[in-house]
Amino acid sequence: MPTLTNPLRPALLAAARSERIERTITHSKLTRRLVTKFVPGASEDAAIEAVKALVNSGRFISVDFLGEDISDASEADQTVAAYLSLLDAYAALGIEPVAGAQPLEVSIKLSALGQSLPGGEELALTNARIICAAADRAGSWVNVDAEDHTTTDSTLRIVRELRQEFPSVATVLQAYLHRTEDDCRDLAGPGSRIRLCKGAYKEPAEVAYQSKEDVTASYLRCLRILMEGQGYPMVASHDPQIISSAQAYAIAAGRDASKFEIQMLYGIRDAEQSQLINDGLHVRTYLPFGNDWYGYFMRRLAERPANLVFFLRALVGR
Ligand code: FDA
Repeated sequence: MPTLTNPLRPALLAAARSERIERTITHSKLTRRLVTKFVPGASEDAAIEAVKALVNSGRFISVDFLGEDISDASEADQTVAAYLSLLDAYAALGIEPVAGAQPLEVSIKLSALGQSLPGGEELALTNARIICAAADRAGSWVNVDAEDHTTTDSTLRIVRELRQEFPSVATVLQAYLHRTEDDCRDLAGPGSRIRLCKGAYKEPAEVAYQSKEDVTASYLRCLRILMEGQGYPMVASHDPQIISSAQAYAIAAGRDASKFEIQMLYGIRDAEQSQLINDGLHVRTYLPFGNDWYGYFMRRLAERPANLVFFLRALVGR
């Protein structure tokens, strides 16, 4: 009998898109304190301090300036400016590549660069190009995050365009989508960098697997394709079964530890992240910063009932 994911997940993911609930939750001082478990701070300085600590602990990082679903192009300009400033700060850190990998990366969301506005695909591409050019100068990689399934085709078109000019640009594939095995086959070629995750949005059964078991099984099929391919797989998961399978598939495919990486979110399974580094693996921590943390935070609550219990207990002061 397949297990459903967290029964509150659909409600929490719907809340992640509700402006009314967002206003209520973001005005609570208490929530702000809890958010720091997943988001080290609102300012670039706070993000850079966290980056330095993580790099000193042997981790690679990918920083996301929080924001999604904007309503006009000037907001996209602000997002671009935030990334350009962050990339200047990266350059000042003077961090060198490690075994062919860039320890520093930025993760961008095309919705924050204008993708859903009228004429948005072109706008998002133009904005992403500006960020990629600055990242090149700063010695940073760029990853294009995956959002809900209605954006997948547009996102992959934009990534293909970007890769003509900036071949190291990576993107994310979500194992819960039925289409993803085929996308993995298409994108497992030489030079490609693919982050594989389970998927964090509320998706209908027509396009996505719904049970935990089906999503994990799809993840493992996709992971095997990427490991047997010629690109650089990035295994974004906290799931012990997936982490150990990744290592077994890499060995079976003749990859050494520098030919793939494990990725986890800031504040989640921190001790395991350190242990994997001690085991000789490349581990990249995804580190979000900025004021616009609501959607990100709600998706983290939806992933794990224990986070929700922790949050509700704090709200009622117990
Ligand atoms: P799963 O949810 O089954 O968790 C396995 C175990 O990990 C849990 O039992 C628990 O111990 C721990 N855990 C997981 N989530 C936790 C949480 N929130 N708090 C505390 N413990 C937790 N999604 C997307 O749609 N687009 C994207 O671009 C990205 N990008 C991305 C980057 C990186 C680096 C990561 C790690 C993840 C993403 N995701 C994402 C999110 C991803 O799709 C997925 O929702 C989460 O990683 C949770 O799935 P797991 O594979 O960790 O397994």
